[in-house]
Amino acid sequence: MTDPHAAPPPRTVDLPAWQALRSHADAVRPRHLRDLFTTEPDRVDRLTVDADGLVVDFSKQRVTAATIDLLEQLANATGLVGGLAAQFAGEHVNTTEDRAALHMALRADAADRYEVDGVDVVPAVRAVRAAITTFAAEVRDGVRRGGTGRPFADVVNLGIGGSDLGPALVARALGDPTTTPRVHFVSNVDGAALAGVLAGCDPETTLLVVVSKTFTTVETMTNARSARAWLAAGLGEDAAGRHLVAVTAAPGAAGAFGVAADATFGFWDWVGGRFSLSSAVGLAAAIAIGPERFDDLLAGMRAMDHHARTAPLRRNAPLLAALLGVWTTSLLGATSWAVVPYAEDLASLPGWLQQLEMESNGKRVDRWGRPVGATTAPVVWGSTGTDGQHAYFQLLHQGTHLVPLDVVVVARARHRLAEHHEQLVANALAQTAALAFGRTAEEVAGDGVHADLVAHRTFPGNQPSTTILLDELSPFRLGQLLAHYEHRTAAVGHLLGIDSFDQWGVELGKVLAARLVDDVRTGTADVGHHDASTAALLRRLARRPD
Ligand code: F6P
Repeated sequence: MTDPHAAPPPRTVDLPAWQALRSHADAVRPRHLRDLFTTEPDRVDRLTVDADGLVVDFSKQRVTAATIDLLEQLANATGLVGGLAAQFAGEHVNTTEDRAALHMALRADAADRYEVDGVDVVPAVRAVRAAITTFAAEVRDGVRRGGTGRPFADVVNLGIGGSDLGPALVARALGDPTTTPRVHFVSNVDGAALAGVLAGCDPETTLLVVVSKTFTTVETMTNARSARAWLAAGLGEDAAGRHLVAVTAAPGAAGAFGVAADATFGFWDWVGGRFSLSSAVGLAAAIAIGPERFDDLLAGMRAMDHHARTAPLRRNAPLLAALLGVWTTSLLGATSWAVVPYAEDLASLPGWLQQLEMESNGKRVDRWGRPVGATTAPVVWGSTGTDGQHAYFQLLHQGTHLVPLDVVVVARARHRLAEHHEQLVANALAQTAALAFGRTAEEVAGDGVHADLVAHRTFPGNQPSTTILLDELSPFRLGQLLAHYEHRTAAVGHLLGIDSFDQWGVELGKVLAARLVDDVRTGTADVGHHDASTAALLRRLARRPD
């Protein structure tokens, strides 16, 4: 915990560097990206970072050279680089839970050393990695088989939040859905999700992977119980056990659930759920893409860890992204952040990033319990380009909200439909240019547009974006991209003084649901026990036809 006797540092918003940025924001707000590009011809070079091949172009952010100077002062005043070093050193940066946040250790090389409470965790990490690598290879090769001797054709990952989003993203981005075993992800407690997947599976050839750090999450345990019952109904209790593996930081609970110790892959309390992809939580992804490519993914993450830790601030992709995120959200006033991958394979990126950023930094008090005093995490949303263009881009172009975007572009497609890819990339570039530079009323009138329509056809522009360019969507590049966002999130938290690694805000709803579930089952609606609205809804629900 934060030492209660130590004097807390000033809040970020009370630092002179913040005050300077606030006045500066007033000066920058009226400036247009059109004139920033004219007056700062070097900005593309200055604001493009090549992080070992992952290219991040920040030049369309609404900043001047002076903004970067002031943001650097903020980084220094808050000790950003030192904070990152403390995280890498295994200090208990998750202060409210008194834990390290050392997910970087999960992708360590044998020569690396990461310590938690004085113990080098790398040997244990690598032992688990070797175990999941072997397991994934055996499942893929049909060496590991079910209770009746048949190889596994379907693998079902049962987990939610961080125990689902990361591996599901990787499986979708890099997997081949035409090969077996097919890998499915069931997260929602809605029985439609589980029933839908199991309807296409045969118990004899299905492997269940129950992923839960705590092994208490209601959604996952409900799905796991139902799926185990489905196995047992098809195969009998004894054989069902051979179709069940667990990934958890609570191996005792997995054992109590009936998972054999040699089918339980562990991780540690210093791994936050939303930062857990590179632990054994990635098992289903490793089965989907193969252990060698999973290793390449981890190598990409490791490369980004190195970049984050060693690149100077102005050449450091995640730290600059964090500073620009704080600038745009907490100082310029954006309240949302659209993430638009121009890559169908990255369709799950916005959802993964939603948990990463909103569960980490969606806080109103700092680690000392004081109001942060500024807007914290934006609402993260988005979907693939070009689909988004035909849904919500109208608002981005001509609406009233300031919405920064991250746009991901992949230079080389993994399919052979070259024309499609040219269209896709052209659209990505066109949209970020249109959003940044717009089209003035004079330009529109100059095109001969009737005076009545000029206002309708004018594009204000000045909508900021960051373009992330990947030469290809390889496992290595995806690993870099995901670790880039992990470090960005932690750095935003550090800059605002937030504990990015706890999530107390998810607790209240869980407690209330646990209290309500019996009343839903029995149709009890006691107004003394519930608020009037909840009681009325319970009464209506109780009238449902059986
Ligand atoms: O949503 C709350 C949360 O605790 C997330 O942080 C976590 O990723 C998810 O639930 C799942 O938790 P577990 O892995 O313990 O089942």
